Amino acid sequence: MLDDARITRYAVPLREGGSLPGVVEADDCGTYVAKFRGAGQGLKVLVAEVIVAGVAARLGIRVPRLAVLDLSRDIARYEADEEVQDLLTASVGTNLGVDFLPGAFGYDGSRPAGRAEAEAIVWLDAFTANVDRTWANPNLLVWHGDLWAIDHGAALYVHHAWPRRAPDPAAFAAQPFASADHALRERCVSLREVDSRATEILTADTLVAIVDEVPESWLETTGALPTPNDVRQAYVDLLLARLAGDRPWLPEDLR
Ligand SMILES: Nc1ncnc2c1ncn2[C@@H]1O[C@H](COP(=O)(O)OP(=O)(O)OP(=O)(O)O)[C@@H](O)[C@H]1O
Ligand SMILES: [Mg+2]
Repeated sequence: MLDDARITRYAVPLREGGSLPGVVEADDCGTYVAKFRGAGQGLKVLVAEVIVAGVAARLGIRVPRLAVLDLSRDIARYEADEEVQDLLTASVGTNLGVDFLPGAFGYDGSRPAGRAEAEAIVWLDAFTANVDRTWANPNLLVWHGDLWAIDHGAALYVHHAWPRRAPDPAAFAAQPFASADHALRERCVSLREVDSRATEILTADTLVAIVDEVPESWLETTGALPTPNDVRQAYVDLLLARLAGDRPWLPEDLR
């Protein structure tokens, strides 16, 4: 389970982030980048963050520790910046905390990533349909000389259709991944090795455990998915379907 903490102070907005994440302090003495439930596309983005970070961690990819952060009405009320105040007011309750990596800087390729870690990250993004790791927005940080993957809210985007359409794991399994613009594409030789390793690691039980880390109140039920457990199962089925087939989603020249 993810750790829980209460936000004690809103420090500063991270204006480079499209969803207006903010640096906050919490009562566990932690400093976090908070991703707010009231931002743009709502709770599904937070769900994707938890699931994809869970997969990444199992594959040995460095991702900051995640926590569930409770935001009280008082912190929202005393925020002076009007745009931030609106966001905080819409986000009272549980939000996602991403452990803040102080002094980290954005990956720019000047010290190229190692082959194995690049291949693992490209595989992760292909597997979870994460289109948000291009040179325009690499979402990779360098901290203490190591590469860290952040910002997985755009992955698993098929779930945004669920309010209107029932999940379709077979369609997701067949969906190709466009890797041409991926920031680590040029560092990869073949994804075969990471693919077989990942297939061994990501058993059905492991995927269930990963999806179980999502707080229940973030799971939006629909007509086709009437309970939070149905929503959890839908995520597990999506990922299992993607692993079961012959990988039409892996870039052809890296298979
Ligand atoms: N854990 C972290 N430690 C340090 N800095 C971070 C961390 N997470 C994010 N940042 C910084 O904040 C920026 C915005 O974060 P992030 O990309 O997660 O937000 P977003 O709103 O999803 O952004 P985007 O516009 O890419 O969709 C990052 O590019 C990075 O510079
Ligand atoms: Mg980003």
